Amino acid sequence: GAPHLAWGPAGLSLDGQALDALATEHGTPLYVYSRPAMRAALAPYQRALAGRAHLVCYAMKANSNLAVLQTFAQAGCGFDIVSGGELARVRAAGGDPAKVVFSGLGKTRAEMAQALDAGIKCFNVESEAELDVLSDVAAASGRRAPVSLRVNPDVDARTHPYISTGLKGNKFGIAHTRALAAYRHAASLPGLQVVGIDCHIGSQITEIAPYLDALDRVLDLVEAIEAAGIPLHHLDLGGGLGITYTDEQPPGADALIAALLAKLDARGHGGRELLFEPGRSLVGNAGVLLTEVLYLKPGEDKNFCVVDAAMNDLMRPALYEAVMGIVPLRPRADGTPELRCDVVGPVCESGDWLGRDRSLAVQAGDRLAVLSAGAYGMAMASNYNSRGRPAELLLLDDGRAVQVRAREPVESLCALERLPDA
Ligand code: LLP
Repeated sequence: GAPHLAWGPAGLSLDGQALDALATEHGTPLYVYSRPAMRAALAPYQRALAGRAHLVCYAMKANSNLAVLQTFAQAGCGFDIVSGGELARVRAAGGDPAKVVFSGLGKTRAEMAQALDAGIKCFNVESEAELDVLSDVAAASGRRAPVSLRVNPDVDARTHPYISTGLKGNKFGIAHTRALAAYRHAASLPGLQVVGIDCHIGSQITEIAPYLDALDRVLDLVEAIEAAGIPLHHLDLGGGLGITYTDEQPPGADALIAALLAKLDARGHGGRELLFEPGRSLVGNAGVLLTEVLYLKPGEDKNFCVVDAAMNDLMRPALYEAVMGIVPLRPRADGTPELRCDVVGPVCESGDWLGRDRSLAVQAGDRLAVLSAGAYGMAMASNYNSRGRPAELLLLDDGRAVQVRAREPVESLCALERLPDA
């Protein structure tokens, strides 16, 4: 799944840099990302959309390191944000607020005001109540907020239930059946300017069919909304394209977009500006998490390989039972036997595992890479068990490895806390 990874005499390398050497230099746990791999993941989106009015808004919740944002800003991307904190990061990384869309179902008034001040491209509104509040906030300062409604097309993205968002029972979006009424309401409010329509059906989607089903339903709505006299400028089709973690075979972004464009053209909507909000597919396979084996712990029922990375560093296995590849950085040729084991971290929870039932020929001190860790890895890391979060390295096109986030020191873990005097 990750063409920038390769095996050589120094073990596993990313963009030609030996990962074991990087682990020695920078310590573990350590996230390492490849900027060229991120650019390569973006390229099929840009190729497929060339010649069409479009904007790829990187869903920065997947990995919001400033240097990652800079990578996409320089490549011409906009950003899909979900908080005032993410807007602040876009600005800190040199991103253009005019290319920002603001998603999320619980925007506060303060966040709305910040985004209006910044001049973002569009608010993706998720409820009728939010429409009223946003209109109020904008009108209070004599402005009109650009809005799309996130409609819930009620299609099954056939992915993990925690990351499937387009079904009726989800908290996201405005029900298909309510959409026209909600658009009429939006168009009647003084502080809003309707500019588009938006949908996002889930994440780690590995088929084209759910996207086409969603598009058909969205286009039905577009036609009904415009027939009601409310013009829509852009169409935001969300993110969600899956990646290969182990044996998944998702379509390429170019194949997905070609299929969507064919349907848009066939239904006479080919001229509209198109927005996408990909996250995982731009960064997932551009990153790895490096960790060191602390102890081998053979047991009666199960063997454990205890490593220095844990669920606080990479939550996906614990939270979704996500299966991610785990490989030794320098495979042993000294007869070390393979051990069938669970790869677990030091955190005090039985759910603290990175991989289950793996076969590994390793000894204490060896380093492992957890693969495809560039998306929803560091972004979801916590300080549970008072563990500082890992350092992050970015490999640049010129071969430099730049530490783009320092290892979190213990002092900063307590920095916001105060002892009451007696
Ligand atoms: N747009 C919206 C409105 C979203 O909610 C999301 C992701 C995206 C775009 C980007 O989706 P992507 O292209 O990355 O699939 N933590 C989970 C994934 C949560 C996805 C949340 N929303 C995981 O680690 O699998």
